[in-house]
Amino acid sequence: MNFPHDEVGTNPTSNRPFQSVLAAEISRRTALRGGALGAAGFIALGAVNVPKASAQTASGVVGDFTAIPTSTADTVVVPDGYTAQPMLPWGDPIVPDGPAYLDDASNTAAEQEQQLGQGHDGIHFFPLGANRDASDRGLLALNHEYTVAAQLFPDGAENWSEEKTLKEQAAHGVSIVEVAMDSNGEWATVASDLARRITVNTPMTFSGPATGHRLLQTGADPDGTTPVGTMNNCGNGYTPWGTYLTTEENFNGYFWEETEGAAETISEEQAAINARYGVGAQGFGYQWATTDDRFRADLEPNEPNRHGWMVEIDPYDPSSTPVKHTAMGRFKHEGAAFATAANGAAVIYMGDDERFDYVYKFVGAADWQGEVAAGRSPLAEGTLFVARFDEGSTGEWLPLVHGEGPLTEENGFTDQGDVLIKARMAADAVEATPMDRPEWTAVHPTTGEAFVTLTNNTNREEPNAANPRVNNEWGHIIKWKESGDDPASTTFEWDFFLLAGAGADSGDESTIDADDQLGSPDGLWIDQNGRMWIQTDGSQPDGSNNQMLLADPESGEIKRFLVGPVDCEVTGVTSTPDGTTVFVNIQHPGDSGGAENPTETSTWPDGEGAGRPRPATVAVRRSDGGVVGASASETAAGQSSEPLPSTGSGLAGPLTVGGATALAAGAALVRFRNRVERDRQQG
Ligand code: FEO
Ligand code: CA
Ligand code: CA
Repeated sequence: MNFPHDEVGTNPTSNRPFQSVLAAEISRRTALRGGALGAAGFIALGAVNVPKASAQTASGVVGDFTAIPTSTADTVVVPDGYTAQPMLPWGDPIVPDGPAYLDDASNTAAEQEQQLGQGHDGIHFFPLGANRDASDRGLLALNHEYTVAAQLFPDGAENWSEEKTLKEQAAHGVSIVEVAMDSNGEWATVASDLARRITVNTPMTFSGPATGHRLLQTGADPDGTTPVGTMNNCGNGYTPWGTYLTTEENFNGYFWEETEGAAETISEEQAAINARYGVGAQGFGYQWATTDDRFRADLEPNEPNRHGWMVEIDPYDPSSTPVKHTAMGRFKHEGAAFATAANGAAVIYMGDDERFDYVYKFVGAADWQGEVAAGRSPLAEGTLFVARFDEGSTGEWLPLVHGEGPLTEENGFTDQGDVLIKARMAADAVEATPMDRPEWTAVHPTTGEAFVTLTNNTNREEPNAANPRVNNEWGHIIKWKESGDDPASTTFEWDFFLLAGAGADSGDESTIDADDQLGSPDGLWIDQNGRMWIQTDGSQPDGSNNQMLLADPESGEIKRFLVGPVDCEVTGVTSTPDGTTVFVNIQHPGDSGGAENPTETSTWPDGEGAGRPRPATVAVRRSDGGVVGASASETAAGQSSEPLPSTGSGLAGPLTVGGATALAAGAALVRFRNRVERDRQQG
């Protein structure tokens, strides 16, 4: 969700690695793009070792389907030869004989606990079958990021009550449902012992160094070891040992610091933490604090510290307790892409979605297979790093370890628990690079290149190397390659993957064609066949609905694949192991309609006259049963066993830039644009 509250960054530091002369240089180059001096810049930079063209020509990774145009229709549009079946809408029961959805929104909180929540977001398919490799039966784990009161209740947010708090809490969290496909390629939920809801009131545990920390202790849990519930679950991840990772993003919006005047019970230390994490007077307007004291930060000042974590869930064991991994740090988590380090440790790349916040990675302490064999989560112990993107296309992972560098008691970090609970402040102290709202991350399955979406930042006045646009309305995507091809490395080389916008040929600063225009890239996944799926959350350059595009992460080729219904966000994507069904989530369709007229702008997916708009999943399949996104000649069987395309090129060539330091950050951008432009001209 693109919360209006994201407009206000909470990073007060000025980690500005580059000076204003540099900013002026970038804006000069930007302004002159394509003009006479722009050409001069091109020539000057032409002396630099410009990587070989990564032409936007057909690579086979992006299939031969005909790209679809943008759309403002109240439906899901997919290319010719594809079908999109809505399933798992908010309110449907998680098992077929559960409480039925009532379209007047009169289902109770108790019923909602046995139904799919709202705000569909991250999603992952966990196969069932004897070898856990079935492509026609599996578990779908999906996030419910937030609720829309105008859709959830007959009278919206009016007449607030404890029942309303409980229903909203039950509509948050995660659903795990068992689904199966029939011989016609239609998916449906089936009866299952594995189906369950995880909500704001589900018991959980902490793992790692901050477990039991003084800042995690509350009246209900004086030991600080057993938090309750998860909320604002946005991006997601999954592990090779078969668990689901759900992120806790805008947790701050649910707490009220001031219920009856000044928040005098909040310590100076906690007030500073709350300020950095955006916990404020009355949150985002959720009214839970009026009936549930847990959300009164003045009464339970440590409760907000128990949110903002990465949560691991075992979908195959319905009796398992979700774990909040403190070693992975506390921030507004979004994205959790996995890689294996050279020594076998688990590595997870993560974004912190706030203006001027950071990109992180967690590196596990030991070989993950050994940890799993020993019955421990490989995510419980390890080191948290934060990224600094330097000019010259190099970068460094800065460890957030108590006692190292500025992370000492005199700077407010008394132990590793402090560092992790206050991860944003630790990252400020080590001078990480403030980014344009890091969202999802992705890792290429063969090249190991990693990617992060920077969705937008309209408040940036001071660019830096990795965030070169002032008033970055449309966002961008960055890629990096770890030194020595080891995800645990502490240095890397980075480059831009794309700058979003209306399209370079329409005259803006983007590096895509107008045909591929997009804004606010957010959801991101590279599938098992090396196909990159890019999803958007925000206004699009031509005013059309949010969308999903398919890209080749190596060549940069890109095609629009899906457009969602009115007022929606397209977020969350996964596929069956054989790639013949891709599941995509549609969040908050029609959310601009009020409680008095919820069907004002959308009736998706049930259709006009049938009901109010509902977030839902769509199962996308090719009519011939082939691999979604692949060329028509590729069959499912051939595709799944086919080796992945591998150029071994990684980041395209050396990126050393000579000349004045002041030119360096702008140079990476200009070089990248020139490369894209040249590829475009060469067809
Ligand atoms: Fe929930 Fe950062 O989008
Ligand atoms: Ca977003
Ligand atoms: Ca998101």
